[in-house]
Amino acid sequence: MIDTLINMKQQALKEIEKVKELSELDQLRIKYLGKKGDVSLMMAKLRDLSPEERPLFGQKVNEVKSELEERIYQKKQIFEQEELIKLLASEKIDVTLPGTSFYQGSIHPLNQVIEDVEDLFIGMGYEIAEGPELENDHYNFEMMNLAKDHPARAMQDSFYVDENNLLRTHTSPVQARTMLEKKGKPLKIICPGKVYRRDDDDPTHSHQFMQIEGLVIDKNITFASLKDALLKMVRHLFGVERTIRLRPSYFPFTEPSVEVDVSYIKKDGTIGWIEILGAGQVHPNVLSMGGYDPEQFQGFAFGIGVERIAILKYGIDDIRHFYMNDLRFLRQFKGVNK
Ligand code: DAH
Repeated sequence: MIDTLINMKQQALKEIEKVKELSELDQLRIKYLGKKGDVSLMMAKLRDLSPEERPLFGQKVNEVKSELEERIYQKKQIFEQEELIKLLASEKIDVTLPGTSFYQGSIHPLNQVIEDVEDLFIGMGYEIAEGPELENDHYNFEMMNLAKDHPARAMQDSFYVDENNLLRTHTSPVQARTMLEKKGKPLKIICPGKVYRRDDDDPTHSHQFMQIEGLVIDKNITFASLKDALLKMVRHLFGVERTIRLRPSYFPFTEPSVEVDVSYIKKDGTIGWIEILGAGQVHPNVLSMGGYDPEQFQGFAFGIGVERIAILKYGIDDIRHFYMNDLRFLRQFKGVNK
């Protein structure tokens, strides 16, 4: 009986040794160690033995069982190790190969200008304020001192969606909204955003464009405060050697009003001027409609075209380039301000 056991063990070990893959090994495990496997059959033979022989034979069967288990386990480890090595080899990355580049987007040049101006004014204690692009006549015109039949409305040909609502023609209605929100408290805001005017698109006109509005209301605000803010902005945007020139102008929401030119050096070395924005001292009517006593408070305001700045800064020949989403154009502005 012991001999049969030993033979079986030898046979099993030989077969285990020859196994080539994991599935075969599993079949062997079932054949020898399974519930109905050879080792179990040996165990069943205990019944045929005399009570004296049983303990020794039982012990032997258990030894064989452990040995076979051990060998199968070792073999399994070897297979798994080989699998792993194969897997690692197939997944090996050669870090010295050149990489594949993928397109990385960047901030639109107009938004870069806006962020640049915002950064400057935030540093001077201004807040950013925004308002809706679909505006009502009341905020867009009336609170800006342009009553229903005011002739200056003709300067801003508009897209009305109904009697009272239109696409805002300037960012100035954000002034009105913010003044009402602040309920008579001093304020310093910058309002960037899109504006719309009925216009035929050409290299210098677009029916949709962007503005940045500035508004400061406080006590003891003078024209010098306005000039200081404008000069800081112009030098920040175009360089410290620039200066500004104010020319009297007219806007219904400011009195007095100015048009602001920035200096540049012409090719012949003389100084030239380019108009870049409108500004002025906030009109008393605008202050009182916004909830401020014009006897106590003064303010200044300005409105600048974002495209205008970008065109001057980067020498762009057609405003429509900004809206065409042509990557050949946009890629040129990757991080120009950073
Ligand atoms: N809203 C004017 C426009 O769109 C620009 C402007 C001029 C805004 C003077 C102002 C200002 O706040 O004071 O043409």
